[in-house]
Amino acid sequence: MGVLRVWYPALVGIKAGTNVLVAGGTGIVGSGTVISLLKQGAKVLVATRSLDKFCVLHDVVSDDVKANLSVVEGDLSTYDGVKRVFKKASTGEHSVNHVVASIGNYWQKGWLTEQTLAEFNRSQRTVVSHFLMMRTFLPYLNLREGTPTYTVVTGHAGDEYIAPKTSFLSVGSGALNSLSMAARAEFNDQRVALNQFHIRCSVQPVPDHDLLPDPFNVGHDLIGGAIASSISSVARGKTVINTKQDAKKMILAQ
Ligand SMILES: NC(=O)c1ccc[n+]([C@@H]2O[C@H](COP(=O)([O-])OP(=O)(O)OC[C@H]3O[C@@H](n4cnc5c(N)ncnc54)[C@H](OP(=O)(O)O)[C@@H]3O)[C@@H](O)[C@H]2O)c1
Repeated sequence: MGVLRVWYPALVGIKAGTNVLVAGGTGIVGSGTVISLLKQGAKVLVATRSLDKFCVLHDVVSDDVKANLSVVEGDLSTYDGVKRVFKKASTGEHSVNHVVASIGNYWQKGWLTEQTLAEFNRSQRTVVSHFLMMRTFLPYLNLREGTPTYTVVTGHAGDEYIAPKTSFLSVGSGALNSLSMAARAEFNDQRVALNQFHIRCSVQPVPDHDLLPDPFNVGHDLIGGAIASSISSVARGKTVINTKQDAKKMILAQ
């Protein structure tokens, strides 16, 4: 992912000490979310396959909140990996009330008819990970006191073909949209607030103020702030972010 640069938007909202699991917290969207949640006083557990990537994130987090950032290693496309993450996230000091699933796997490897079945199956591990996460965490969150939330982060590659050679990205994103739609329907009236946070613009791993003023290119801090706002407002259903302005509005509404 390279070096992350951090700018903290002024935010209020999440109750200090709230426990949040961010699956994919080392990624572009996930890291912005982790940073925003920490800034608001949350305790954040990051699920990742790579401790090296976690170290990059840990290094850029400001010293005063580092103690609130922990990690659990696990491949979420496997039952064993998700079980391992669940064990840490559901017990003792962590006992999360909020889960953000920002699991992604950008794919732009070639034309559709040139791909193998093995590559197809490999490219769909992301949607498998989301299914296993939902299957494991939604019933747990549903039994939690207070206002538990589950946020699934999705993108527009499932709505349209976004660039040449991205066929399997579209297949995976479309499947994730449908998985989220089914989960939203089935959990509509349940205690856990399930929200699909659907981003229809490009997110960059830099602070928003470093970007040119382009409504469709958003810094990960701003998107992370909007996701944190959706959790503190217990958003349920589908939140669609079309432009930078949409993300800003969500933060200001807090
Ligand atoms: N970036 C954008 O411009 C953009 C725009 C619109 C929507 N989105 C959406 O945002 C979401 C996240 O995208 P992103 O751009 O942040 O992706 P990213 O930078 O590639 O990060 C994806 C994260 O998912 C984790 N991950 C992937 N497979 C995993 C597995 N099997 N087990 C555990 N962790 C796994 C990776 O963690 P480790 O490698 O550390 O294990 C990584 O931290 C996606 O749904 C995407 O569609 C992104």
